[in-house]
Amino acid sequence: MPESTQMSVIGKAQPRIDGPVKVSGVAQYASDFHFPGMLYAVPVEATIANGKIRQLDTAAAEKMLGVRAIFHRENIGKIFRSVAGEGLEGICEERRPPFEDDVVRYYGQYVALAVADTFENAKAAADAVCVTYAKDKPNVETDLTAEDDPEVVLTTFGPFHRLQSQRGDPESAFASAPVKLDQTYVTPAETHNPIELQATIAIWDGSMLTIYEESQGVFNLRSVLAQMFGLPKENVRVITKFVGSGFGSKLWPWTHCPLAAAAARQLGKPVKLVLSRKMTFQSAGHRARTQQRVRLGATPEGKLISLQHDYVYHRSMLDIHHEDCGEATPFHYSVPNLRVTFGRARRNVGATADMRGPGAVPGLYATESAMNELADQLKIDPVRLRVLNEPKIDESLGVPFSSRHLLECFELGAEKFGWSKRDPEVGSMKRDGLTLGWGMAGCAWIAARFAAEANVQLRDDGTVRVACGTQDIGTGTYTILAQLAAEKTGVPLDKVEVALGDTSLPEGPLSGGSMATASIVPAVFAAADNAIASLLMIAATTPGSPFEKRKPDDLAFEAGQVFVKGDGASRGVPFADLLRRANLRLVTGSGKSEMTFGNPKPKFSMHSFGCHFVEVTWQPEIARIRVNRVVTVMDAGRIINPLAGRNQIEGAVVMGIGMAFLEHTSYDPQNGAPINSNLADYIMAVNADVPKLDVHFLDYPDKELNEVGARGIGEIGLAGIAAAITAAVHHATGVRVRELPVKIEDLLTSSVLS
Ligand code: MOS
Repeated sequence: MPESTQMSVIGKAQPRIDGPVKVSGVAQYASDFHFPGMLYAVPVEATIANGKIRQLDTAAAEKMLGVRAIFHRENIGKIFRSVAGEGLEGICEERRPPFEDDVVRYYGQYVALAVADTFENAKAAADAVCVTYAKDKPNVETDLTAEDDPEVVLTTFGPFHRLQSQRGDPESAFASAPVKLDQTYVTPAETHNPIELQATIAIWDGSMLTIYEESQGVFNLRSVLAQMFGLPKENVRVITKFVGSGFGSKLWPWTHCPLAAAAARQLGKPVKLVLSRKMTFQSAGHRARTQQRVRLGATPEGKLISLQHDYVYHRSMLDIHHEDCGEATPFHYSVPNLRVTFGRARRNVGATADMRGPGAVPGLYATESAMNELADQLKIDPVRLRVLNEPKIDESLGVPFSSRHLLECFELGAEKFGWSKRDPEVGSMKRDGLTLGWGMAGCAWIAARFAAEANVQLRDDGTVRVACGTQDIGTGTYTILAQLAAEKTGVPLDKVEVALGDTSLPEGPLSGGSMATASIVPAVFAAADNAIASLLMIAATTPGSPFEKRKPDDLAFEAGQVFVKGDGASRGVPFADLLRRANLRLVTGSGKSEMTFGNPKPKFSMHSFGCHFVEVTWQPEIARIRVNRVVTVMDAGRIINPLAGRNQIEGAVVMGIGMAFLEHTSYDPQNGAPINSNLADYIMAVNADVPKLDVHFLDYPDKELNEVGARGIGEIGLAGIAAAITAAVHHATGVRVRELPVKIEDLLTSSVLS
C-alpha cells in the first residue's frame, strides 16, 4: 500500500466549511447581489443561425414601461477584441466582441440588449425589438468531414500540430497486423448545465469597473475585460464568491459579460444580466461533437502493434477551441507504431468550449471502446488486454511517469466488483430474472499546475486567514485552502478564514483542468512558511518576549506554538500571545508557485489514472436498460479531502451515465437552433438513474507535482465511464453502439430480445 506521511488535517474527510452558508441561503452567488439604482438587462437573441441583420427596429421597445435603453451596434460604445497573452490571460472562446458587426453566425447570438428598471420590463422590451434578417441556410450538419486546415492551427492554448503524435510506422504495421480493428465512434454536442445560470453585475465608478460574475477564472476575466474596455488591469475588479457549478462553461468569459459592462458604462448605473437556460445552450459554450476513427493492430496474443486515432470535431465560425480527443492516446498504452491526428469542421453553432474532461473524455470513450472491442475479438479478458499493453514509460515523450498505478486500480476494481465471475458470452449472465451486462474501461487525466499566489496571516486572536484569488466552483476549494492552512499552522479548521474569488486577492489559478488544488498547495505552503518565519523573527526581537534572547533560527513552530528547538511544543507559547505582546494584529506571509502546464519537455509524464467497472441490467421484454452497479478506482495522488474527493468522482460517474444514455444537444437543421435547450428536453441523469456508487482511492502521493502529492480529481471520473457502460450494454444485449448516447432504438435489434 502507499507510503503515508503523517499529516493531521490533510487526508481527513472534512465536511465543507462553506456548507452551512450554502444550505442556509446566506452564500451570495453573482446574481444574488443587489445595488441601489441597479438596472436589468435582457439580450435579444438572433432567430437565425446564418445571415445578416437587415433592420433592427427598437422604436416600440424604447417607449415601453421602465425601459432605459435598447442597445445595439450603433449605440453600445466601443468594445475592443481581446487576445490571449502570457500565462493563460485574456482567453475567451468567442473571439468576436458582442455587436462587432451585423453578421449572425449562430442561433441565439446577441443582436441587441434591452435595459429597464425591472427584469420583467427588460424582458418585455427585448421581446418587442423587431429584427429582420437576410437569411442563409445554416450549416449544422452532424456528419463531420475535416476542412482543409494548415498543418499547424491556432488553438486557445497556442499553435497546435494537426499531426498530434507519431512514432514508428503505424500504417504498414496496421496493414500487416494479424488482428485488426477499424471503427468510428461518435460523441454528440453536449451542453454544460450547471444549475446556477450565468450572470453578470457590472458597476462603474469613474474608470473603475467592478464585475460580479460566476467565473471559474477571475483573473482571466479581468484581463479580458481590461482589454475589451481599454483599461489598465488594475481598474477592473472581478468578484466570484460562490459558483453553482461550472463544468467548464464558466471557465472562459462569454459575451453577456462585456455587454452588461458596456450597458452600465453608457447608463452610469449598475446593470444585472442573468442568462436564461435557453441562452446558455446557445451562447455560453458546449462540448464539440466528435467523430473518431480508431484503428488497432494486434498480435493474436493481444499485444498492440499499431494504434491510429484520427478525429474530427465541430466548432463555431468564431472560436479556436481545440477538442483534444488525442490527449491521452499517445501515452496510455505501450505500442511501437502510433499516430494521432485531428481535423475540424466549422458549423453555425455557438462557440465550443471546455466541458468536464475536455478532449480526453470523448477521446477515451473512443479508444477504450476500441480496446474493449479488440478484447472481444481476441477472446481475451478486457482487463488482461490492458495489462498486456501497460507501458513502462510514457512512450510519446520518452520520460517516466511521475506516479502511475493503473494496474493496481484494475486489481482493486476487479476484486471489489467480482470481475472474476464474468462469463464473456453475450446475454449469458442472469440475476433475478434480469440479464446482466458487465463492462470496464480505464482512464487518465492530465496533472499539472497553473501559476498561483497566496498569502497567509497569523492573527492576534489565534485565527489564521488564507487568501488566494482562485474560485470554489462547488468542488471544495474553500475547504482545501482551510485544510492546507490548518495543516501548516496547527490551528483548528474553524479558526481558519478563507478568502477567494476576488481579483483584489493574490493571483490564484483557474478552477479548470482539475488543476486548482495541485496549484495552490505550494503557494499556500510557502505563504505559511513565510508568515511563520516573520513570527519567529518577531518572537526573537520583541522586548519582553519569552524568546527575546534567542535567534530566530533557534526557534521552532508547531501546532500553533513557538518554542525553543529541542524543547518541544508542550513548552511553547501560542502565536497569538506573541503577537499581542508585540502589539501586532497580524503577521503575513506570501507565497507563489510556477506554472507547469504546457511544459513541452517535462522530466516526468504526469497524469491521474483510474478505472470503472459497470454492471447494467437488461430487460429484453420491455427493452429497458439500467446501470445497476459501478465500482470506480482512482489513482489521483494524495487525496486531501476524501469526502469532497468522493463527491467529485460520484458526480462525474453520474454525468457519465448521462453521457452514455441521455445527454445530447440537437440542432434544428431548418433554423440552426439547439432545440432541446431546456432541462425538460435536455435529459441528464438524475437520482432515479443512479445506482449505488462504490468509489476507491489508491492515495499514492505524487511528490513531483507538489509537496503534498495531490493531483486533481474534478474531471477524471468522467473519463472512461461511457466506454465501460457501452461495453456492458454489448455484453447484455449483443448490440454494439458506437454513437452516443445509446438509445433504446439502438437496442431493439438485440438478439437477446425475446
Ligand atoms: Mo473544466 S472543463 O477544465 O472546467
